[in-house]
Amino acid sequence: MAQRVYIADVAAHNGKEVTLKAWLYNKRSSGKLWFLLVRDGTGIIQSVVFKGGVSEETFQACDEMTQESSIELTGTVSEDKRSVGGYELQVSDIKVLQVAQEYPISPKEHGTTFLMDHRHLWLRSSRQHAILRVRHEIVRACREFFDGGGFTLVDAPVFTPNACEGTSTLFDTDYFGSTAYLTQSGQLYMEAGAMAFGKVYCFGPTFRAEKSKTRRHLTEFWMIEPEVAYLDLAGDMDLAEEFVEHIVKSVLKNRSKELEALERDPGLLEKVIRPFPRISYDEACEILRKKDHEFKYGGDFGGTDETIISEAFDKPVMVHRYPAEIKAFYMKNDPDDPSKALCVDMLAPEGYGEIIGGGQREDDLAILQEKIRKHDLPMEAFDWYLDLRKYGSVPHSGFGMGIERAVAWICGLAHVRETIPFPRLMHRLRP
Ligand code: 4AD
Ligand code: MG
Repeated sequence: MAQRVYIADVAAHNGKEVTLKAWLYNKRSSGKLWFLLVRDGTGIIQSVVFKGGVSEETFQACDEMTQESSIELTGTVSEDKRSVGGYELQVSDIKVLQVAQEYPISPKEHGTTFLMDHRHLWLRSSRQHAILRVRHEIVRACREFFDGGGFTLVDAPVFTPNACEGTSTLFDTDYFGSTAYLTQSGQLYMEAGAMAFGKVYCFGPTFRAEKSKTRRHLTEFWMIEPEVAYLDLAGDMDLAEEFVEHIVKSVLKNRSKELEALERDPGLLEKVIRPFPRISYDEACEILRKKDHEFKYGGDFGGTDETIISEAFDKPVMVHRYPAEIKAFYMKNDPDDPSKALCVDMLAPEGYGEIIGGGQREDDLAILQEKIRKHDLPMEAFDWYLDLRKYGSVPHSGFGMGIERAVAWICGLAHVRETIPFPRLMHRLRP
């Protein structure tokens, strides 16, 4: 039996006989020949079957093989510049593990609902493959950035006793007779972590009962959240831009083939170099006003507002100091203008909108208690959090980046539903 290799590694076996364990992607015949396009998860290779080069049975099997049939092919690797991947397999034997039933996803166009219903199979297509490999690279680069920067990983819990990002998007669940909420953000726990370790981050699934159907909102998404003690808002913005630059550079370096498969122009991503522009909320409103876009000063930016603001720049833009009124209870007010919060949103270019939200946290016990009251939140649920302001309170900041928003932007996708293996949306809990 020849050595089993992955398609990604065939170049190292040029001229040698190997075995591939794969699935049939596509096939065509020209009488005495079969061209089988096969995939094994690491790549795609064209495999050529000559009528005289294999047994009669094997040649017949090619005729019966359907798309996605599982097959083991043995043959000789040969360089062929015209072929996908630059190599071909000259087949000497094929073992069919299963002839697949008629595969629902054919190369013809399918509607999004149909594809989403078949997400478990759709993952096999080359486009989805490319997107999820970029996602993996983004996650790897995120971890690399923090691990290499002296941050300690502190995992946040998923069951929580209180809200972090407002009560309107909480998922609750019975917890042995009392109510637990699925976490909206690990931030409050990271604040505890930062007081213990100085620099921490968490990365995990977060949940929001988003009742709106938009192309940017999932009900379950993955967030990476750093938190740093003795860091102010300006330092937080420095960290955020360094972080995003690192991610984009990593994808350009390690996933250029996938970007090409997605027809993503790398030139646009190559512009993502520090420093990023920093504008205040007031300046962002001025952009909207100049574009004659209707917007009520004092409110939060909606998807369209963000799109217009971000289109004014060819790099991510950081919008800071939103009205405190519309922001979360934990944000610190700007001492120079207490009506504003020391917060920042990073908006991705090309109209992608917010990818990061963060800022400096309120570190004064009395002011924080006042804010919890004003937001109508139950004080007792935050007793542990308030302890952090009693025992060595310091200025501190952090942010959260939603992985799916970053993937959508970097891959150039119109909707976040393709950025996560199994998306959870208001009307989608399957597969
Ligand atoms: O701006 P958000 O709500 O900020 C927080 O949760 C902070 N507690 C984070 C922190 O400071 N540690 O959410 C942060 C990011 C957004 O910028 C966006 O990228 C993503 O999380 N996000 C969503 N992604 C997909 N679907 C949703 N429904 C999302 N809501 C937020
Ligand atoms: Mg936000």
